[in-house]
Amino acid sequence: MNEKNKIQILIIDLGSQYTQIIRRSLRYLGFYSIILPPEKSLEWIKVNKPKGIILSGGSSSVYDIDAPKIPKEIVNLNIPILGICYGMQWLAYINDKDTIEVKKEGKSYGPVQINFSFKNKSKLFEKLKENINAWSSHGDSVKKAPKDFIIIATSQDGKVIEAIECEEKKLWAVQFHPEVEETQDENIILNNFVIGICNCEKDYSRKDVIEEIRKNTKIELGNDIAIIGVSGGVDSTTLAAILAPALGNKLKAFFIDTGGMRKGEIEKIKNIAQKANLNLEIIEKYKNKFINKIGMVIDAEAKRATFRTIYGEVFHEVAKSYGATYMIQGTLATDLIESGSGGKSVLIKTHHNVDLDLGLKEIMPLSDYFKFEIRELANEFGLDELVSKRQPFPGPGLYLRIIGVPVTAELLEMVREADAEVTEILEKYGLYNKISQTVVALLGTKTVGVKGDGRVYGYSFVVRTVETTDFMTVKGFYLPKEVCEEIISTLSRHSEIVRVFFDFTPKPPATTEFE
Ligand code: XMP
Repeated sequence: MNEKNKIQILIIDLGSQYTQIIRRSLRYLGFYSIILPPEKSLEWIKVNKPKGIILSGGSSSVYDIDAPKIPKEIVNLNIPILGICYGMQWLAYINDKDTIEVKKEGKSYGPVQINFSFKNKSKLFEKLKENINAWSSHGDSVKKAPKDFIIIATSQDGKVIEAIECEEKKLWAVQFHPEVEETQDENIILNNFVIGICNCEKDYSRKDVIEEIRKNTKIELGNDIAIIGVSGGVDSTTLAAILAPALGNKLKAFFIDTGGMRKGEIEKIKNIAQKANLNLEIIEKYKNKFINKIGMVIDAEAKRATFRTIYGEVFHEVAKSYGATYMIQGTLATDLIESGSGGKSVLIKTHHNVDLDLGLKEIMPLSDYFKFEIRELANEFGLDELVSKRQPFPGPGLYLRIIGVPVTAELLEMVREADAEVTEILEKYGLYNKISQTVVALLGTKTVGVKGDGRVYGYSFVVRTVETTDFMTVKGFYLPKEVCEEIISTLSRHSEIVRVFFDFTPKPPATTEFE
């Protein structure tokens, strides 16, 4: 964002998993925005006078005692407001207490077909077809339009209210989620709001991001020394490449071999570092420490926690050896949201590098950004082939892909080999780059198979392929039959593997990784 420009859009965070996605979608459309909790919003609005306000969704009911405390004054400031999901329910409720139907059990969750065929189509839905498929996830709903509002979208043959507006008071509200990619043409609705309704001007580009990351990190670091652990994945590598020219030898970049890496990883890392002009130290001496300790843990969260503890200890030692007082992390918005650190959303998984208390000060320059944005930044540094086109790989690596049994060096090797074989097959069929992530995992329960003439009591493998832009939600990437057949025959050549499953379950309900 240009310093001279004011932030035009405020997003008020009411606790939705999707709040950061609203911000990301706005960036994608060319607009910088800010997210604030409801308590801080009114003061900020009065000082900064934004051109528009978006109320995120959230899991509360307007009747909950601890429901977010949104200042009611915001609706009288003549600033356009778009309420999404809970945001819509709140707007309806404060205008008419008798509009909310409380859901007794469960949630309305999943795809819903939205109809916009009203006499005067709302400005919010300009350029959209009469019907779109949208993503919905809510408990309570709005059962009638409040006074002065009109209904502008419905579902289920007009029975369910999906959007309302009061143009005079500049209030718009939708029950579904226009910000997520499952909603068809999702960017059109947000674009209509920020341009068509709020008259915002575009104020965001990639070069601005790089400049801002460098400037802010430099200021925060001052004359101190910072370490950055580079995993070879797109986030940490891109971040190191962005910062290296700005921080010079105040930045110490290193790679730790945890023993859970993919095949040929170290060679690739060396290549990447060269391409990114990075002075990278490869540290291999901690491998056994990781294997020995994690091997004793089976439960998914306990395993993540153990990995995190060792990772922390190792980082601490390395930092000390460099005399560093800061740690720079490539943590993304998704990581923070899912580990419960972003705004008010709930914990899904402990991430190995979030909220580590190492006695080092932390800088997370990418914590507002999403994967596809980092890939775009990687391209600015010529890292597209080596980094941004590689599928993401979690910090705890193959440790997360041995499910239900103790991890051993032998099992890690089996998964590593299987992963490499599946990757090769997907590349051969030209599918690797179309798939956002492939997870090849060993399922610990043994089952009976027959090989040659003999009984084998062996492992099952599961191959999971998904597509997504941000990993907040994913769709299964269905592999063609011939590819499945080749994967099955290749993996079952290993004497200990008797079965291969394929997993195309979306997220939600499944997460991308099994643990
Ligand atoms: P889930 O399984 O939460 O994964 O749908 C979303 C994305 O995050 C990656 N992931 C991680 N990355 N440390 C990381 O650096 C972690 O602990 C971690 N856990 C999951 C996952 O591979 C996917 O790309």
